[in-house]
Order: sequence, then structure tokens, then C-alpha cells
Amino acid sequence: MRKEKEIYEQRLKKHLDELKWLYMELYDAPDRFEELCAAMERVYCERKASLKAMDLEREADPEWFKGNDMLGMMIYTNLFGGTLKGTEGHLDYLKSCGVNYVHLMPLMESPKDRSDGGYAVADFRKVQPELGTVKDLEHLAHSCHKEGMSLCLDFVMNHTSEDHEWAKRARAGEKEYQDRYFFYDSWDIPGEYEKTVPQVFPTTAPGNFTWLEDCRQYVLTTFYPYQWDLDYRNPVVFNEMMYNFLFFANLGIDVIRIDAVPYIWKELGTSCRNLPKVHTIVRMMRMIGEIVCPGILLLGEVVMEPEKVAPYFGTVEKPECHMLYNVTTMATIWHTVAVQDARLLRKQLDAVYRLPKTYTFLNYLRCHDDIGWGLDYDQLENWEMMQVPHKKYLNDFYTGKVWESFSRGELYNDDPVTKDARFCGTTASMCGVEQALETGDEEAMERAVRLDLTLHAFMLQQAGIPVIYSGDEIGQLNDYSYKKEPEKAADSRYVHRSSFRWDLAGRTEEAHTVQGRIFKGLRKLETIRGNHEAFTARARAETIGWEDPSVLGIMRTGESERITGIYNFSRSEKTVSWIGGGKDLITGEDGAKERTVTLKPYGFIWLREEL
Ligand code: GLC
Repeated sequence: MRKEKEIYEQRLKKHLDELKWLYMELYDAPDRFEELCAAMERVYCERKASLKAMDLEREADPEWFKGNDMLGMMIYTNLFGGTLKGTEGHLDYLKSCGVNYVHLMPLMESPKDRSDGGYAVADFRKVQPELGTVKDLEHLAHSCHKEGMSLCLDFVMNHTSEDHEWAKRARAGEKEYQDRYFFYDSWDIPGEYEKTVPQVFPTTAPGNFTWLEDCRQYVLTTFYPYQWDLDYRNPVVFNEMMYNFLFFANLGIDVIRIDAVPYIWKELGTSCRNLPKVHTIVRMMRMIGEIVCPGILLLGEVVMEPEKVAPYFGTVEKPECHMLYNVTTMATIWHTVAVQDARLLRKQLDAVYRLPKTYTFLNYLRCHDDIGWGLDYDQLENWEMMQVPHKKYLNDFYTGKVWESFSRGELYNDDPVTKDARFCGTTASMCGVEQALETGDEEAMERAVRLDLTLHAFMLQQAGIPVIYSGDEIGQLNDYSYKKEPEKAADSRYVHRSSFRWDLAGRTEEAHTVQGRIFKGLRKLETIRGNHEAFTARARAETIGWEDPSVLGIMRTGESERITGIYNFSRSEKTVSWIGGGKDLITGEDGAKERTVTLKPYGFIWLREEL
């Protein structure tokens, strides 16, 4: 017991001065700070012994999540296992996929007809009843740990649902609760905000505020009108949300995905994105975590232009998030496939490879959201790809409107005025599997499956945690049935949020099926990745280019080996010269020291040289 207290005091001592300083600078509220400190200690005392033991292990090995054996998967509980218990019953399937990091999409209580896929939380302490209970969640976390898996959960801290207790009381006129949101009885201040704040969802609501007729107030709603932004200028909001965060930690959640983090601080006269005080809050959150539950990780959802992303890692002395999404690389990969030109991707990777190796990215091809074409347009415009027509081309390509396209999918938030739009679809549909099935063209199918695996290989060659979007491991296609459900019909993201096809998952052993080819191909790549030290973050990564801009090489040099991936992003076969030689890791064949490498359309090769 005494030892535990000492451990806590030690952790507290490390951070107390800085935490207090930041808190006072922001709030100047000593009583609230005392309350926060007391709550932290209480939560620590309540933390289960098994979780405390895990904290100690992870503290002793702070790199624990950086290994080349990490493989993540994002899953909707209802779509995958029906309920939390059902999902727990399928952990063996996840193990067979090699997964050791499971991200369960939002599952806390949320009004069914206004849920934004669970991102409108009505109660941070209750699970959606149709999925199970908090006890089930805790049990699932425990079972994951037994299987050597980490569990990630969303923490939606920017806003609450309008059905949250605070929102209801605010609506009923209680000033104390109105002060937890941005409430205004006239358009004066909202009108000022509108002058500088861009819109996230331009087509779902006019402006960033929603008029509440019943209480005759405007409320700030950056996302959907039923998602009310919390006001972090109020210390009560900060404290209470930190208690919710710690509640998740004590359930055994390992990774907290901070949803929409760039938006959490608002100031008049600004864009209300990425403001310096967002970093103060994330830094405080990091310290609170390190004091109470140092085994947990913060994953920031920063879907912003490239230069805005890395600052969320904080600095070496004052870190913020442990991990961030590699969003620009993801969008640039899809751009590269469409234009058959890897120059931008090379530039993007060179920028990532220059970052400190301690930064850990989550790499992915698809997730539950749309793809926004957040590319480096300054660069593209130099190459005569102008922003507006280029975005239109990408959308036309991926919706299958241009003759050279093989993709299927739908636009998201199509803005008729600016002509801007984002895109939705599954990896397999975007790679051409859906079209090849429609046309029955076996050659097209072969190319589609090849592209699917090439893109995964590309993702797996990056350091960090590769995360597969559930269903992609079996090449699941778009599902257009959401259009028949009134509460989903307007949100095309549901085209790639469909029930997991257990029937198809049962066919992965059949080598000739699409499922078999993708699943087995992926498993092979993941196993190779896990077995070679050149895939770790410690290795030096560089890009290689050839005269033909559709071919891109990535070289990872570890202590004992060098692994070179050469990727053909064009629809025709390519031959490039290569002086490195090496063994083909997929076929096992040894190559001559100086040779030419021939890559099929959208094909790739991984070569290994011993050093
Ligand atoms: C994040 C989620 C997205 C959600 C939004 C608002 O961007 O990924 O699905 O709509 O936050 O919570």
C-alpha cells in the first residue's frame, strides 16, 4: 500500500509544477485545481491492481507500442459482433488476422436518430444499451489484455449530444449548464464568429451555430446541429471531461482516441482550429494520464493540413499525443493511384521521414470517415494540377465517372457552390474489385486485388502502427443499402460502414476467392513485417525515385538488413533498374546484385539485403 502511494507521489511530483502552472494560466481557479488533484488521486486508488501492474511494465518500456509486430483494426461493435459480448466471442478471429490493437468505434450512449455514428455522446458513463453494458466493456478490455491485445476507444471531448444531461439542463434555462456550452441570446457574437470560422459540414447546416427555438438561444455546433460544442474556457468542463477520460482509463482502455482535437478551443476572431490553448489542454491531459494511468496512450485525431499535424506530438520535453494519424500520407496515396504519379507521395514521405523517429504514426488506407483531399496544392499547382479541377478529377475518378477509372464510391458533403466534395468507399471498391465483379473481367479482378495488396504493402512498409479497417482484410465492398434507412440516407459515409460479412470471412481458406487472395496476401505481408527489424521505427527510411514518376521506392535500413520496396503506381507494366540486389521477400527468390526489376501494373516487390 505504502509503495503504491510512493509511486503516485513520485509521478505527481514529476508533473505537478507544470500542470498547476498551465491550469492556473488558463483558469486561475485554485479550488478547481485542488478538486482535480483530489479526483486524480481517488481514481488512482480505485485503479485495478492488474492495470497498475501494466502501468509499471509500460513505464519501464515506454516504446512498448512501437514494435513491428503491432497491427491494428478498427471495428464497429454492432457491425462486427452485434454486441460487446459478441465481439468478445470473436477475438479468435481477430487473432487469426494477427491483430493486437483493436479500435472499437464509439459505443457510449447516443440518441439513435442523431448519433453521428456514435460521435454524439449523451452519457459518457453508459454504453449504448443494444451493445451491452459498461461491465461488458470492462470484461472485453480484460479479455483483450489476456490475449495480448490493446483496446482503443474514442473520447469525444469537443462536444456532447443535445441529449446529454448538461445540454438538457442548459436548454431548460439553467445558466450554470449554459456556461458549459457556447450559448448566445442574440446573433451579435455568433455573427462575429461566422466571419472567421470555416464550416466543417457545409451542406448539413448553414453556419456553425444552431438556433434553439424553445429557449430562444443560439448554440455553437461545429459538426451536426445536435452536437453542441463544449466550452473549455470553463474549468468545470475541463475537470468533468478529465474525469470521464480517467473513467475510460480505469475500465482498462489502453488507447484514448481524442476525437476532433484541433477544435476544442475557440476564440473570437480566429478560425477556431489548432489554437495554442488546444495544446495546453492536450498537454495537461497527457500529464494527468502519466500521473494516474501511465500505461495508456493518447491518439490524436488531427485531420488537418500536413504542417498542422506534427505539433500535436508536442516537444520531446513536453509531449502531448503519443500517436497521430498519418492522414496526409493516406490521402496522397489515393491521389497517386488516380494520377499514376508518385512525386507528391515521395515529397510527403520525405517530410515524414525527416521527423524525429520517436513520433509514432497510425498508418491506414481507409477508416470510418470520408477521404478529404487535403493535399499539398502549392506543390501540385507547380505541376499544373490546380486545386479545384484536381479535386474534381479525383472525385470523378473514384466515383467511376472517367473512362480510365475502376473505382466505385460516393461523394460526401458535395458542396454545389464551391464544387468541393470528399469521397467515401471501401479499399476494395476503390481498387476495382467491385467493378471487376460487375463486369466479370478476371484480368481486371487480378489487377484490383494486386492494387489492394500493393497499397497495403506500402502502408505496412511505414514505421508506426498499421491499422486495417474491418472488412478490408476480406476485400469487403461498398454497401448502398444505407440509402433506405432515413437516419443514414443523407450521410454517404455509411457506404463503407456495413455489417461484417462473416459468410465471406469463411472463405478465406479458399485460395481462388477474392477473400482468400486478399486475406492470405495480407497475412503474408504482416508476418514478414513482424519478422524483420528493418520495419521498426529505429531503421532509417528513405525514398528512391526513377525517371518514370509512377514508380516509387522506399528503403528501410536497419542494423542487419536493408529492405527496399518498389511500387508501381501505374496501370502498365514497368521495368526499372536496381543495383541493390537482394532476396524477394514474397517469392523467396534471390536476385542478382545488379538487375532490372519488372513490376506488373500496380504491382510491387519487397527486396531484402543482408548488411
Ligand atoms: C471525427 C470523427 C467523425 C465525426 C466527427 C465529429 O472527425 O471521425 O466521424 O463525425 O469527429 O465528432
